[in-house]
Amino acid sequence: MKGAHIKATGISHTYRRGATQALAGIDLEIQPGEAVALIGRSGCGKSTLLHILSGLSQPSQGKVYVDGALVDAPSPSRVMMFQTPSLYPWMSVEQNIAIGLKFNGRMREAKARIPELLALVELEAYAKRNVQDLSGGQQQRVALARSLALNPQVLLLDEPLSALDAFTRHALQRDIRRIAADRGITLVLVTHDINEAVMMADRAFVLKANPGRIHKELPIPIPGDRSPSTPAFAGIRNRLVAAYEEAAGLAMADADAFSSQNEPAAETDDIRIPADGTFN
Ligand SMILES: Nc1ncnc2c1ncn2[C@@H]1O[C@H](COP(=O)(O)OP(=O)(O)OP(=O)(O)O)[C@@H](O)[C@H]1O
Ligand SMILES: [Mg+2]
Repeated sequence: MKGAHIKATGISHTYRRGATQALAGIDLEIQPGEAVALIGRSGCGKSTLLHILSGLSQPSQGKVYVDGALVDAPSPSRVMMFQTPSLYPWMSVEQNIAIGLKFNGRMREAKARIPELLALVELEAYAKRNVQDLSGGQQQRVALARSLALNPQVLLLDEPLSALDAFTRHALQRDIRRIAADRGITLVLVTHDINEAVMMADRAFVLKANPGRIHKELPIPIPGDRSPSTPAFAGIRNRLVAAYEEAAGLAMADADAFSSQNEPAAETDDIRIPADGTFN
């Protein structure tokens, strides 16, 4: 299945219970099969935007179109992955992978496709294993296979790798990017980790907070396999770090303008970017 085109226009969102406006005036367009990253400091509205793109929540204002059709509900063609994989702990790896298809009444298809899905995430040896007995990285691979079982057009990732160790994380970044590219799946990735954005995305949107909006958009034109040790990678990472800092600084200045209760703008100096670009 080919990835979907996503267009969001004039997206603003205020939570009913929230005093602050989570998003204001977001316009973005994502091409079929493109991988984009949403980055920005905590609370700038990344998850809110991802939920709205998926159809899990409806924006207070604005519209999302996927392949020209208005998004007004979730769809199995747009799959979300979260930081915790939320697997069924009493079920085996293969049962967890098949569960989405079973819920959609596609039992026979589930059975037929399990070997292919297990191979895709390199878990062939673990098919009958209870998911509780897997590592965190293996559990996210199960969640990835379960997502891919639905043949999604869009994969929406809300920091699904942030709890993993650096090595496992790097392997999954590379695998998810490769699988999405092979299948033409449109990828939207939320991350705090600038390296992760540069590893996985073709383009990054840097958001600023209060209210959440797009500060800058940067292309990530690195052909072939990506490695943090290359000059091209480092150059783009530095530009993204600068945009992130800029957005975070502006957010503090804006917050100041809204309320005299806030700390002085000079406090933005406290935001330090680690040399490796990791924000976790
Ligand atoms: N269910 C909710 N009810 C009320 N306010 C909410 C709710 N969810 C999020 N918010 C607020 O909306 C804003 C954006 O939150 P969101 O979770 O989208 O941020 P985020 O960028 O994903 O942050 P993080 O990086 O910490 O995950 C924040 O100010 C947050 O407090
Ligand atoms: Mg979030």
